[in-house]
Amino acid sequence: MQTSNATVSMPDGLFGRAVQPVQISSLGTCVPPRVLTNSELEQMVNTTNDWILKRTGIRERHIAAPDVATSDLAAEAARIAISGAGLEPPDIGFLVVGTTTPDTFFPSTACLVQDKIGATRAWGFDLGAACSGFTYSVTTAMQMVATGAHDHALAVGADVMSRIIDYQDRATCVIFGDGAGAVVVSPAVDPELRVIDFAHEVDGSGGPALQMPAGGSRMPASHDTVDQRLHYVHQDGAAVFKFAVRKTGDICRRILDRNGILPKDVDLFVSHQANRRIILAAAAQLELPEEKIVINIEKFGNTTGATIPLALADAVADKRLKKGDLVLLASVGAGFTVGAILLRWAY
Ligand code: UT7
Repeated sequence: MQTSNATVSMPDGLFGRAVQPVQISSLGTCVPPRVLTNSELEQMVNTTNDWILKRTGIRERHIAAPDVATSDLAAEAARIAISGAGLEPPDIGFLVVGTTTPDTFFPSTACLVQDKIGATRAWGFDLGAACSGFTYSVTTAMQMVATGAHDHALAVGADVMSRIIDYQDRATCVIFGDGAGAVVVSPAVDPELRVIDFAHEVDGSGGPALQMPAGGSRMPASHDTVDQRLHYVHQDGAAVFKFAVRKTGDICRRILDRNGILPKDVDLFVSHQANRRIILAAAAQLELPEEKIVINIEKFGNTTGATIPLALADAVADKRLKKGDLVLLASVGAGFTVGAILLRWAY
């Protein structure tokens, strides 16, 4: 067996430092001003306000103007989060953007955001985890700070879903909306008020249930793919629904159990907002009372990477989320991707 004497170059700041507790220091969100109501959708496809409200819990969603892309919403959310943390953009060492609707395949939306906000010392990338984009991004950003590699990291979940929705398909077009949310992750000021744990899974066998079939290397764009409407979200709603209910419950139970925390000790449950019925069914498995569940899907629909920060922002604004609260975040998305984060709210 051969051994190598080559010197291995270590990334700056990583090795030899202890893992440190981290916190979410601030939150910023951005939704475009245009609201698309259920009654407008009634004029576009064969649906009713009553069906949408009963089956999903959605009343309206925000839709980006034609000249607005994901990086625009993401950059605005990022600016708010950075100033909320009392920082300047150059204080950010790392940024990750969880998105399913990047402005372009390349450059990454993270690069565009870095430039737009003037995060001159940051590196970063996009992360593809669909509706788990925010939880996966927060977990990734956490590692960069916990290891001491960076003092402050930015995790963004942002999507302009309206660009990949078929407004002739009533089963999907009523669900999705556009928005962005960002958090700054920093070393914990008070170690009690820290991110406690994260849990993630993927189950790639679920891929066909929720996908955009064309536009990638498997089926590049052609006249045919456009004619067949393959550049839009295609979903087997019932299959996704069942998986989401089961897995949201499972992953929450797992993260709570291994930290010795009972569901009744959770102050706030902030799940990805895909369907009001999914959130309530998952919460019922955990026996969480309704007052601990944040649901704001009626205002925004499913904004994919942005739902959890939008829900957190509403909870902060309503004073339902306060410093010291034990918060459980959960997500299930295309892939399938599954995630949960358990934390004490730090501000
Ligand atoms: O973010 C992660 C990804 N997404 C999700 O988590 C979404 C998961 N799935 C869902 O939320 C639900 O499955 C949907 C909201 C997509 C659909 O609700 P559902 O109760 O599962 O309805 P369904 O697909 O079983 O369809 C029931 C009926 C069908 O009619 P028939 O075949 O029974 O005559 C559909 O054609 O409802 C019909 N339908 C509609 N009717 C009026 C489907 N969409 C609509 C609509 N308006 N917009």
